[in-house]
Amino acid sequence: MSVPESAPPMAAAPGSAPLVLGIESSCDETGFGIVRGTQLLANAVASSMEEHVRFGGVIPEIAARAHLEEFTPTLQQALDTAGVTLAEIDAIAVTSGPGLAGALMVGVAGAKALALATGKPLYGINHLVAHVGVGVLDGVADSGTQPAGVVHSGTAGSVLPEHLGALLVSGGHTEILQVNRLTSDVTLLGSTIDDAAGEAYDKVARLLGAGYPGGPVIDRLAQQGDPKAFRFPRGLSAPKFVGTAEEPGKHRHDWSFSGLKTAVARCVEQFEAAGVPDTEIPTADIAASFQEAVADVITAKAVRACTEHGIRHLMLGGGVAANSRLRSLLAERCEAAGIGLTVPPVRLCTDNGAMVAALGAQLVADGVAPSGLDFAADPGQPVERISLVA
Ligand code: KG4
Ligand code: ZN
Repeated sequence: MSVPESAPPMAAAPGSAPLVLGIESSCDETGFGIVRGTQLLANAVASSMEEHVRFGGVIPEIAARAHLEEFTPTLQQALDTAGVTLAEIDAIAVTSGPGLAGALMVGVAGAKALALATGKPLYGINHLVAHVGVGVLDGVADSGTQPAGVVHSGTAGSVLPEHLGALLVSGGHTEILQVNRLTSDVTLLGSTIDDAAGEAYDKVARLLGAGYPGGPVIDRLAQQGDPKAFRFPRGLSAPKFVGTAEEPGKHRHDWSFSGLKTAVARCVEQFEAAGVPDTEIPTADIAASFQEAVADVITAKAVRACTEHGIRHLMLGGGVAANSRLRSLLAERCEAAGIGLTVPPVRLCTDNGAMVAALGAQLVADGVAPSGLDFAADPGQPVERISLVA
């Protein structure tokens, strides 16, 4: 039996950019994207978020089952939108990790079935790097602000700026990456050591009885509150964790949000213990102060990591990129530090298949060998493993 391992890495017709299908299923979004090189043709996403609402967070088994149900209809929707057939696709890319094991397995198994049935090469790729890959899509990277002196490179048809970093903030991750070359050289500079920022939003929203997902509700509530009403902790900011530029502490560029979440819980409990009725607890002030702590510590640490690692341009990704305070404070601090900033449209910041397809197309264009059919989903896939090797 001939299997796609034997397919050449560069499967596109000479002279035309590769047509790549990207599949995403690492959390609660089932995403299928189709790109031709750097041109986005389709981005179909089905979310199981509604099914997790009553639990106040993503339940892995529910997410995995939803991926199974949405796989075929979402794939069909992407093909219809792009106006292409599966037979015309040159390569398939699927998120192999990091993410929820059961959720990843559905996407990976489905992608293998498609690759086997069509004989197309298959790439198992890194979800975090795919968030950055979205920046190569036409019109995304040029939408950002550019500090003087930033040179744009043209590697593999991409328009990613040089000296690039990426700040990824969602319900599943809070990371800062250094991207020397999208398809071969990405390193992790810092990450959360406990909750992801979006997760903290979801937990705090639950404490305040504000609903799920917590990000948008807290963001809205915070608009009516005083961000200085309470001084909540900025995790891992003490000198013993941060150290100095010369002698960096162990967590210089890392974040922690569990202490912040506990501080908010204690604050609410104090009002309750004092007999303050629920309706009179200053939830808007608490939300605004919590949001300020999150935005402050994320942006301060991200900008410091960029400055110390020669990053001149930062790309923001993940669902929390929709946050009003994070966006404004990051823009302010990046500008002050002479760092360009790109914030893709929210539908490309949240999990989607277009980013997977975009990275897949770059791997094809760079002649990277496909992953074959023998790889497994890797829930803890390190960021350095951009694509899996056969
Ligand atoms: O990227 P995403 O759609 O899914 C993953 O977590 O992978 O991000 C969802 C997260 C949720 O935790 C949600 O509360 C948060 O993004 N979020 C926000 C906002 N909108 C969504 N967090 C803060 N402010 C927002 N406006
Ligand atoms: Zn993500």
